[in-house]
Amino acid sequence: MAKRSLWGSKAGFLLAAIGSAVGLGNIWRFGYMAYENGGGAFLVPYAAALVLAGIPLMILEYTLGHREKASSPLAFARIDRRWETIGWWMPTVAFFGITLFYAVVIGWCMNYFVFSFNQAWGSDTGAFFMETFLQASDSPFDLGGIRWPILGGTILTWGISWTICYREVNHGIEKASMVFMPLLFVLTLVLVGWSLQLEGAWEAIKTHYLSAEWGKINPFTASGSKVWVAAFGQIFFTLSLGFGIMITYASYLPKKTDIVGNALITSVLNCLYSFLTGFAVFGTIGFMAASKGVPFAEAIKSGPGLAFVVYPEAINQLPSGQTIFGLLFFLVLIMAGLSSAISLIEAFCCSLIDKFSFSRKKTVTVVCLIGCLGSVIFTTRAGLWILDIVDHFVNNYGLVTGGIVECLLVGWVLKAAVARRHVDGAGGVKLPKLWEVLIKFVTPSILIIVIGFALYSEFSGNYGDYSTKALLCLGVGWLVAAFIISIVLMRYPWSGAKLAHEHEPEEDHLLV
Ligand code: ALA
Repeated sequence: MAKRSLWGSKAGFLLAAIGSAVGLGNIWRFGYMAYENGGGAFLVPYAAALVLAGIPLMILEYTLGHREKASSPLAFARIDRRWETIGWWMPTVAFFGITLFYAVVIGWCMNYFVFSFNQAWGSDTGAFFMETFLQASDSPFDLGGIRWPILGGTILTWGISWTICYREVNHGIEKASMVFMPLLFVLTLVLVGWSLQLEGAWEAIKTHYLSAEWGKINPFTASGSKVWVAAFGQIFFTLSLGFGIMITYASYLPKKTDIVGNALITSVLNCLYSFLTGFAVFGTIGFMAASKGVPFAEAIKSGPGLAFVVYPEAINQLPSGQTIFGLLFFLVLIMAGLSSAISLIEAFCCSLIDKFSFSRKKTVTVVCLIGCLGSVIFTTRAGLWILDIVDHFVNNYGLVTGGIVECLLVGWVLKAAVARRHVDGAGGVKLPKLWEVLIKFVTPSILIIVIGFALYSEFSGNYGDYSTKALLCLGVGWLVAAFIISIVLMRYPWSGAKLAHEHEPEEDHLLV
């Protein structure tokens, strides 16, 4: 069996893991999720989701990857072969359900980076985004042809990701993250500072971002429960949980590692980053509302287009520095997006390499080619609608289901006490017993309730007013397709002695 790569340094691993977490989800997706779900009110379920699901699951995924030294399918199979399908489901649903559109959104950012040079979006940025740039069709089934500039940006994204993932993790992903992440943090600080001094920004932040209308998050109302579902979905997306990514990344860690410390740093820094960029988003919407003389809530039609409409509009209103502000914003998005895209690709490739012993170079090349072809559907004129539907189902059901299964597998089949003993044995911060309670009872129960809320709202009205046929074919269909692929991949036998990973004997025979 080929020797498994290791991260070159602790900082390298942390930056790669934070690079995976911090992505389009923190700026592009967090912005419109918070705007659509009550602004400041959204922060309450978001923080609850971080504590009750995000951090416990981050520790769980790091533990699983580190203990088994394996990607999710192999890690699941080593604990119990019958659970391997879900081990495949996580990277498969993430790759086909997220990476394909994620690369396209980075492609949008690349186009907008170029548009920033002369503010090519003109004065009506909403119409430019929907009509000129996307040329959005009327329905998800009306593909209406490929948008070539978007396809160009998407191919470039896949090309850059391929170049990075092609090399071993300590040379490719680690080196790229060490460049991307510090630069990203500095540029983000500049961007937030800049947004804060815009006229009307502070007012909007204070009124709409830092204060909450509690009525909006009452989970026993139809609209309040949607906010909770959105917050939990966002936590999974933003922390890259349920994708198999963090399991894979932790599998490249050396034996002695501070699992709890690393998990806390990754989760907390990521969410602080989102919270910080929220100032830029809400401040900029406030500035836009003030400049146009319209109420905050009417400043913009929300949804996945928010960043591409609000920022250009705000840039238009700037008295000077328009080009540099635009370049800065879209560069931040591109870098954040790329450092996450490579992790999505890595999780799927590593799963294939673990199972089939393919070479890294061939696997990454074929996976990137398939991914690039798959992305084409999102570059059509119906791309925005398909993206919105797929994103909704993959986040609210796909990732959350992965989270529930992980809790059951580690909490009850492996035994939470065995996992905790492993964490403590690896060194670093000790894992409190409370984690066992969370993983065995609290987190899975809450996630099951969240899925229940999500299903309830699904049956109370079609998501986004899409037709039932569109939701079934593109949303449910996408999940079913990922499940079928997972079963096919699972059915291949494991070669060699891969399933027989040797653990410290006392870990396996710990009495619990
Ligand atoms: N965690 C990544 C993001 O937030 C996928 O964009």
